[in-house]
Amino acid sequence: MLPERLAKALVDKKRAHSFRERKICQPNGKYVQVQNNQYLNFSGNDYLAIASSEEIKVAYRQLNTGSTGSALINGYNPEHAELELQVADWLGFEKALLYSTGFAANSAVIKTVMSEKNGLILQDKLNHASLIDGGLTANAKSMRFAHNDMVQLETKLKRANYQHPEKLIVSEGIFSMDGDNAPIASLSDLASHYDAGLMIDDAHGIGVLGTDGRGSLAENNLKPKQIDIYMATFGKALGSAGAVVCGNATLIEYLVNFSRDYIYSTSMSPHQAKLTSIAIELVKKQQWRRDKLIENIAYFKQQLANLGFADTGSNSAIQPIIVGENQATLKIAEQLKKAGIWLTAIRPPTVAKGSARLRVTLSTAHNLADIRYLSTQLANAVKVELR
Ligand SMILES: Cc1ncc(COP(=O)(O)O)c(C=O)c1O
Repeated sequence: MLPERLAKALVDKKRAHSFRERKICQPNGKYVQVQNNQYLNFSGNDYLAIASSEEIKVAYRQLNTGSTGSALINGYNPEHAELELQVADWLGFEKALLYSTGFAANSAVIKTVMSEKNGLILQDKLNHASLIDGGLTANAKSMRFAHNDMVQLETKLKRANYQHPEKLIVSEGIFSMDGDNAPIASLSDLASHYDAGLMIDDAHGIGVLGTDGRGSLAENNLKPKQIDIYMATFGKALGSAGAVVCGNATLIEYLVNFSRDYIYSTSMSPHQAKLTSIAIELVKKQQWRRDKLIENIAYFKQQLANLGFADTGSNSAIQPIIVGENQATLKIAEQLKKAGIWLTAIRPPTVAKGSARLRVTLSTAHNLADIRYLSTQLANAVKVELR
């Protein structure tokens, strides 16, 4: 019976120390309020401290909420049209299209574009669940290549060339759980050599990397036309929510006409669209936010090295401290909570089995003393747990 099976699945999760529970969290700048306690927050994705900026708070009070319909009925509002133009202009793409979440955008785009049975989707092994789900629901076949392994990708492309006339390579720009970056220039070279499309999910690069925060492409000196599909979320460095898909006019018109998730879903709140527009202007103008984040990242890495930790392999705002076992990771997180630090344990299936971790995320809002405090508390907690 269904209820018994669901209950058993939950019991199994508890036994494996991978049971999840939500906590009511109220983030504010570098802090987060959880059940009447305030913690120093090292778990959020508000890398540039935009979500809590004064500019956003003031604008928030002046806006309406609902779009009242899907985009093709009456839900395409001036705020959406303006944001699409703004993003396309900022990033240098012909057109942009908004989705209500990054998850919806990724799964919708892959499924919609790769609709032919003889197509092939090649995904990096560490790609986000939304990209993988897009592949699984597409008519095309899905395949994964080892993380950032261009030799293996090329082998798969060579083998696939005749069987699969349409191919799409899919990778994140900055990987969400490891913080390392994809070799985007090599991906683009392989894509053009083997006549494959290339999709980049830049959820963690947008705003943070490149001139004016234009993301991973700008950081790697790639032109927008070297990428077929670019996806970025607004819920991380832009401090808002929702997502955008960018590409040429044909891609965007195709999605407007065939993407069921776009057509049959209430469009993003105009409120959210307007706040995102304001956030983009802040990101473009306020280089100091990126500079401070870069300083914080370098300082944290230096602190970790001084305390004898291995290098995290990441130069981004996402700094993974791999522990391994679920239970030990949970205990370290609990220890840090007692010290006033909010750093949630990340466990499988979000990451590979045996690679549970503390995914530290740094923000412009942190100061050097916060990072010093985190580093020493982390070292203490790890020492106690992994002794
Ligand atoms: C790489 C990546 N892509 C997509 C998403 C989904 O974005 P959203 O939170 O807007 O649904 C996330 C969020 O966790 C992500 O890390």
